[in-house]
Amino acid sequence: MDAETWKGRHIASTINGTRWEGDVAVRQTLGDFLREELGLTGLHLGCEQGVCGACTVLVGGKAIRSCLMFAVQIDGEDVTTIEGIGADGELHPVQRAFSEKHGLQCGFCTPGIIMSVVALIDEKVALSDGELREYLSGNICRCTGYTKIVESVRAAGVPEPAGRDEEGA
Ligand code: FES
Ligand code: FES
Repeated sequence: MDAETWKGRHIASTINGTRWEGDVAVRQTLGDFLREELGLTGLHLGCEQGVCGACTVLVGGKAIRSCLMFAVQIDGEDVTTIEGIGADGELHPVQRAFSEKHGLQCGFCTPGIIMSVVALIDEKVALSDGELREYLSGNICRCTGYTKIVESVRAAGVPEPAGRDEEGA
């Protein structure tokens, strides 16, 4: 690895509503940066190759896999992690829905799924159960079988398309 590769670069971002400015290593992933440099360990690193979704955070309001993005890429961006979605010690409505509907077991996948759902709710789209499961297919859960996750997402406010009949998917 040449010296240029390891050089730090100065960036400025807004992370969970607070401005952050400093030097980051150009080859450090966003996931490693958030966990190791900022202590935001709510995001989990599972596969570290873009498959499991456990590392999902919001960058510019979009759900992204923080294991596939370099920290330097958040320069000028607004980043939200699971630590940033509640307010005044209260759970975010999506977190509350997962808690009340038992949408988690071990919880390893949960922060990533919740961030994906927060992004989905912000898009204000209606999805059938089939579409919702397809959307969630980017977040792998080893425990729940997804039924409770889908119930939780519904409880969080993602509606089914209007006019959908009982047989619709
Ligand atoms: S750790 Fe990023 S997708 Fe699995
Ligand atoms: S709750 Fe255990 S992996 Fe999803």
